[in-house]
Amino acid sequence: MRIIVTEDYNAMSRQAANILSAQIVAKPDCTLGLATGSSPIGTYKVLIERYEQGDLDFSNVKSINLDEYVGLSGEHDQSYRYFMNHNLFNHVNINPENTNVPNGLAEDTDAECLRYNKVIEELGPIDTQVLGLGHDGHIGFNEPADHFPLLTHKVDLEDVTIEANARFFASKDEVPKQALTMGIGTIMQAKQVVMVVSGKDKAEIVKKAFTGPVTPEVPASILQMHPNFILVGDKAALSLL
Ligand code: GLP
Repeated sequence: MRIIVTEDYNAMSRQAANILSAQIVAKPDCTLGLATGSSPIGTYKVLIERYEQGDLDFSNVKSINLDEYVGLSGEHDQSYRYFMNHNLFNHVNINPENTNVPNGLAEDTDAECLRYNKVIEELGPIDTQVLGLGHDGHIGFNEPADHFPLLTHKVDLEDVTIEANARFFASKDEVPKQALTMGIGTIMQAKQVVMVVSGKDKAEIVKKAFTGPVTPEVPASILQMHPNFILVGDKAALSLL
């Protein structure tokens, strides 16, 4: 595990964008695993800037997103499909057909998970996976559990997660209670994993995940065992390491 400490959120975003840029330049037809949440927004902004400057070409890049809320369509402004379109895909020359997000409106969620696993099998293994970190240690929407789920599955969201994400909805009641998420087995198979963390409110969970025992009760702790894991965090988030 490699740790990159930065001064603040903007510097964190530039460092993470450097890693992703290097990936895209080195392998123009790479498969990126992408994350949502406030943490990677700055990283995506820098990637867009570099695309606009002519330094990055996304035309052959493929992407597989981590997760999606059950019950939200891609047009809902809080869906992760909408997030990706608005924070990255619409601003670069990625082929929309090469972008993948689970379908939150699928009637048969089991079938949707199987379909997503097939997509991952076809496009994977992921070359670089971007991750944020939930306050309870979740990655994607893999919540604390008694085992590490391997493949895409449906999860019931923890109250702490619903609360953390309520800031984006009109009220807490509107936050979906379930999600579809890529499994931890798929994340661990990525050739490189980059996690972005920022802010003092993440310091405790960063300490727990990366200096504590590897346990499915803190899903991110498994990353201690990944052969190519880079933690990019600002001073505040890494202050307890
Ligand atoms: C959501 C997402 C995660 C993300 C987490 C943290 O629950 N499913 O992928 O890492 O939020 O979000 P933030 O970066 O806004 O703290």
